[in-house]
Amino acid sequence: MSARNYMLALLNQRRSGYSLTQPFYRDPDIFRLDMETIWYRDWLFAIPACELAKPGSYVTHKVGDYRVIIVRGADNVIRAFHNTCRHRGSVICKAAKGNVPKLVCPYHQWTYELDGTLLWARDMGPDFDASQHGLKPVHCRELAGLIYICLADDAPDFDAFATLVRPYLEPHDLGNAKVAHESSIVESGNWKLVWENNRECYHCSGNHPSLCRTFPEDPSLFGADGNSLQLQAHVERMEAQGIPSSFQMSADTQYRVTRMPLIEGAESYTMNGKVAVDKFLGRIADKSAGTLLKFHYPTTWNHFLADHSIVFRVTPIGPMETEVTTKWLVHKDATEGKDYDLQRLTEVWTATNDEDRRVVEDNQLGINSPAYEPGPYSQTQEGGVIGFVDWYCNTLGRRLRPTSLAAE
Ligand code: FES
Ligand SMILES: [Fe+2]
Repeated sequence: MSARNYMLALLNQRRSGYSLTQPFYRDPDIFRLDMETIWYRDWLFAIPACELAKPGSYVTHKVGDYRVIIVRGADNVIRAFHNTCRHRGSVICKAAKGNVPKLVCPYHQWTYELDGTLLWARDMGPDFDASQHGLKPVHCRELAGLIYICLADDAPDFDAFATLVRPYLEPHDLGNAKVAHESSIVESGNWKLVWENNRECYHCSGNHPSLCRTFPEDPSLFGADGNSLQLQAHVERMEAQGIPSSFQMSADTQYRVTRMPLIEGAESYTMNGKVAVDKFLGRIADKSAGTLLKFHYPTTWNHFLADHSIVFRVTPIGPMETEVTTKWLVHKDATEGKDYDLQRLTEVWTATNDEDRRVVEDNQLGINSPAYEPGPYSQTQEGGVIGFVDWYCNTLGRRLRPTSLAAE
């Protein structure tokens, strides 16, 4: 049976409201289909734009088999290219980040402009057409200071997402941010287990003592429907201040925004609940603004607070290995040691990430046993998980079933 038919058979057998069967979490063939069907076709959050401070600033990123360069051009436009030389294919930028006047291949020094055009190639003869050998572009869009890329030849629509989310992000002024700290951890678990864990707080009281000082465990506040009266009161209060806050989710559930209050009296994700940064990132002066929650499958969940913002990026490495990168964004003029203490700013989510890594890895270990069978999600606590798994299965099914191949 082909991997595709195998996947379709597994999807047909799926029991809704239950965790997935074992192959979804560990089978290399299913992992490859996940990459080809979702990761190589959807828009992926890559970096905050502030990481590329000036022309020539670049970062590299690897998604499955693809390697990508994201670079700010001389015209200040941020573009993405495949990090594969058009001569004989060498990787061009080997560092994780840097600043260069041109993109120079280390093998035979073919030299590309920052906009991907081939500028110089030695001794290629009179018939060589440099214009046919520019770097291959990767779709790249900037959304209010966040850079998204898409590896597909034909990218799906980005505008509906951008139009919905831009007004929510605008008050957070990410264009004037800097990365105060970043961490990348590798979790020994399938990428979907990382997401399932992220979409619920059923596990919070037993695992997240630091986060629970400020993050409310009430699933009606951050769950799947946005119907909580407390949430609605918070939204009304913030929107009266001109801050977009209402719960919005796409029809296919791929993305959502909602502004949620923290625990009564809490201002930010710190051990004492007070703000972490005195110089705020953005124009929300109200310390009780809580957090703007945003997710966009399959790559990113985010918290945008009054004083700072945190962006998370998920990258699958293998069937049972996933990288989670976290970046703490503060105002570009905020000074460490004066406006914020780095330890105070980062300690809650550094601890929380490590606690999440542990539960995801334990989840994977138990699933690896032949005795594992799918178990029921809590309808009240794990509505977000049900939403994620449904999105995943629906997306795969739609893209893999032959009747829809022509349409997609
Ligand atoms: S492979 Fe890049 S210059 Fe030869
Ligand atoms: Fe968690």
